[in-house]
Amino acid sequence: MDRIELDALSDTLLVKIRRKRGHPFDPGRMAKNLKTNREELAVAVRHLKRLGYKIKIDKKGRITFSGAPDNFLPAEIANGLKTEMMGGRIYAYQSVQSTNLIAHKLAISELSEGTLVIAEHQTRGKGRLGRSWHSPPKVGLYCSLILKPRIHPTLAPGLSLLTAVALTETILSYGEIDVKIKWPNDVLVRGAKTAGILTELSAEIGRTNFVIVGIGVNINHRPGDFPKELKKHATSIRIGLKKTIGRVEFLQRFLLTFEKEYFDFKRSGMTRLRKKILQYSSLLGQKIELKMGRKTTSGIVIDIDETGHLVMDTKNGIQAFNAGEVSVR
Ligand code: BTN
Repeated sequence: MDRIELDALSDTLLVKIRRKRGHPFDPGRMAKNLKTNREELAVAVRHLKRLGYKIKIDKKGRITFSGAPDNFLPAEIANGLKTEMMGGRIYAYQSVQSTNLIAHKLAISELSEGTLVIAEHQTRGKGRLGRSWHSPPKVGLYCSLILKPRIHPTLAPGLSLLTAVALTETILSYGEIDVKIKWPNDVLVRGAKTAGILTELSAEIGRTNFVIVGIGVNINHRPGDFPKELKKHATSIRIGLKKTIGRVEFLQRFLLTFEKEYFDFKRSGMTRLRKKILQYSSLLGQKIELKMGRKTTSGIVIDIDETGHLVMDTKNGIQAFNAGEVSVR
């Protein structure tokens, strides 16, 4: 579980060579410019190459940078990220059990809100209701955000819906596509699951200590990337849009959209957000069954209220639910 970090030299070298993209430069001059020697520079170049940066050395020893990988490297996520707070700190890993687990441990000491924990691959990605989240490398987004909102714990489920709205709008920013939110925490593309949100809370009576928002998105999965049991119900943005999406850019767009919604939520609660939740909801007006523990309730969805509860017209009258598993009848 090694954290992916750049040493100071590789980091400054990357900043310099980004500006010289496609143009060969002399390593001696670059080393002098960076107040180092050629050996140290060569180590930094090798390090960047190992991380997937496209760097060539020609016969004259000149170095040319031609592109960055679409991998979740902190330097790539931060490059061009326009947020004030989200992703302000990044903990990136090649492979972890679960980013939510790491975020949970970090949140106890980590003071800054918006810290992002991200991994290329999860070995025990957690889903809701004790399920797992299939997390193969190279195609998906698996990350967790640490939030410290001063809200009553009962309002925390609203953050799942806020995340779903931000994901929906991020997906829509790529083109015309049928995207819907399935309360409480799924994002569907053409009716199949493409993203899931696992919001975990640390709270005392009446007080939220921190919230971990875990986000899993099937971005560039091809049908064959899903195991048999998921094939029927899961899809990816790539399948929906019929084009490959830059994962780093997707994350940057998402973080910016999420941040705008989050600031608004902290300022004025769910009012504005609720309109969007209703606009994107796949369940409004639908006849559903809601399973909560051993109890199943049938009815028609008539609203999602200001606290994020699902409101149903049932045979026992109007009832509101804060959690549960929904199936459309
Ligand atoms: C669900 O739909 O059941 C929620 C899935 C949430 C998956 C994400 S992937 C990143 C983060 N880390 C985890 O272990 N789970 C969440």
